[in-house]
Amino acid sequence: MCGIVGYVGNRDPKFILYEGLKKLEYRGYDSAGIALLQEGEIRIKRCEGKLDQLKAALEDPHFYGTPLDETYVGIGHTRWATHGRPSEKNAHPHQAGSIALVHNGIIENYSELRQALEKKGHVLHSDTDSEVVAVCIFDFISQGHSLERSVFLAVQELLGSFSLGVISQKDPQTLIAVRNGTPLILGVGVQENFIASDVPALLPYTKNFIYLEDEEMVIVQKNRCVVKNFKGKEIQKQIKKINWTPEMIDKGGYQHYMLKEIHEQPQAIIQTIQDRVSKDRDTLYLKDLTLSENDLRKIRKIFLVACGTAYYASMEGKYLLEKMTKIPCEVDVASEFRYRDPLIGKEDLLIVTSQSGETADTLAALREAKKRGARTLAICNVKESSIDREADSTIYTYAGPEIGVASTKAFTAQLTVFNLLAIHIGLVLGRLPKEKAKVYIQDLVRLPITVEEVLKQEKEIQKIAQKFYRKKTFLYLGRGTSYPIALEGALKLKEISYMNAEGYAAGEMKHGPIALVDEDTPVIILAPKDEHYDKVISNLEEIKAREGIVIAIGCEGDTKLSKLSDYFISVPQRSENVMPILLTIPVQLIAYTIALKKGTDIDQPRNLAKSVTVE
Ligand code: G6P
Repeated sequence: MCGIVGYVGNRDPKFILYEGLKKLEYRGYDSAGIALLQEGEIRIKRCEGKLDQLKAALEDPHFYGTPLDETYVGIGHTRWATHGRPSEKNAHPHQAGSIALVHNGIIENYSELRQALEKKGHVLHSDTDSEVVAVCIFDFISQGHSLERSVFLAVQELLGSFSLGVISQKDPQTLIAVRNGTPLILGVGVQENFIASDVPALLPYTKNFIYLEDEEMVIVQKNRCVVKNFKGKEIQKQIKKINWTPEMIDKGGYQHYMLKEIHEQPQAIIQTIQDRVSKDRDTLYLKDLTLSENDLRKIRKIFLVACGTAYYASMEGKYLLEKMTKIPCEVDVASEFRYRDPLIGKEDLLIVTSQSGETADTLAALREAKKRGARTLAICNVKESSIDREADSTIYTYAGPEIGVASTKAFTAQLTVFNLLAIHIGLVLGRLPKEKAKVYIQDLVRLPITVEEVLKQEKEIQKIAQKFYRKKTFLYLGRGTSYPIALEGALKLKEISYMNAEGYAAGEMKHGPIALVDEDTPVIILAPKDEHYDKVISNLEEIKAREGIVIAIGCEGDTKLSKLSDYFISVPQRSENVMPILLTIPVQLIAYTIALKKGTDIDQPRNLAKSVTVE
């Protein structure tokens, strides 16, 4: 989704803004732009397409910031089109008279506002909802209000979600930022302050952040930031220190973030497990879980809600939690849950899973469940994100920053957390035998090394995968805990290679997908040695009988599976709880290899956004 960066301080912000936008590229965008004050006038460069185009425009020697009393201001934006197609005129910043504005979010009442502004004689130049906000603010300025007051009055008129950054010719040492429903943070520097949609944009400049809440606006100046709520009351905010480093968001020598992040999975799992397992590996410490044994005993039902890849992790969560805790679970995509009048109440627990902690539908689902009195728990990768702050408690996936749009290490870290959570609750409630728990914990502790072993087969997996980059349709099949991995495998391929891929519960094959099978259809079959194995083998035979190409992913030493399939990828055999994590690695590498061969934009696939902050 759109990315915002803003600057007030003692340096020319042109390239600070550009570099900040580069760090937000992962959010997904189709146009970009920057506005600065030059000799007291707003100057804007914007263009359709990627930041390389903007960079070329920024090379213009006549485009630079100039200070007033050693203070420069500027704003930058990457746009992910919602209202109006990607084009230069629809790109941000939007200028209206003496101000320029960047916006992330959706203004729901923009057409009424536009009509009213046009009636007053304002001329709008773009098709966006964002320009309406700029004109609305300028309208108040024209009535004689200050910049701060005009932004304050304008936001009272807006319905929907919006983060804003506004600069003005008439107030050249101030940047006004607003947060309401989409993320915005404040970076606090020395003689300079920043705004951004996300931390990575500002890591090269500061580690001190102020996290804004909804319905807050900030008057940002070089040496101070004043936060006020939408009623105009000043709010005292805490500065929080973050321990991420700029290196963590580099590609580290890999061709793509996605590949780097696939290889970071052992480390992500180590970080997620360490400090949570007792020395003799029979107890787990989940300090972040604030539910007492008594609370856990009272839970009637667990609702697992998320979007995208995190939803598939939640499907695994259901298998694990039901098996080990015997508490009934229900899984839902957040965009359905929030609108379906869910039967959730105070005796239930909602678990939301989100890498970014900012996904609009997941956040709304969390709020809906809280409104209905449910206890809430988040599994989240980003501290201080909206979901982290609003859930009763959060169990973090310590995967580190994930930049590739297609989620990889966050997913396996989420599966790891579900393992920890299910074992922990199972033990606390006495529903999981201690000896069994010990085996599961042992496998979790060894998991990073086991994942390493799978990653060592990268070359062989690539050799197999690259044969299929010209195929039209792929099927991914699995049963039980392999079913969500079939869905995730298909999603990964779709997301980054734009190929048609369907994930199915293997048992459902006869009810439709088998019609797709012919000698040109690769079918990726997940067949670990679990209780479903024989049934999956029957499905495999049915595919072979229709001349489908079978790529089987199963356990080491499975000669039967190897013989029956056209291609065989093996992973070590471990307890059934961690098998989904091991099976995930090959499906990620298959998707990556095919996309690489096709030459698609792997880290920023078309039309996709890393953090979907609008519904
Ligand atoms: C977007 C991303 C996906 C991600 C989903 C949920 O669609 O492209 O990779 O799985 O959002 O994101 P979250 O941050 O809530 O896990």
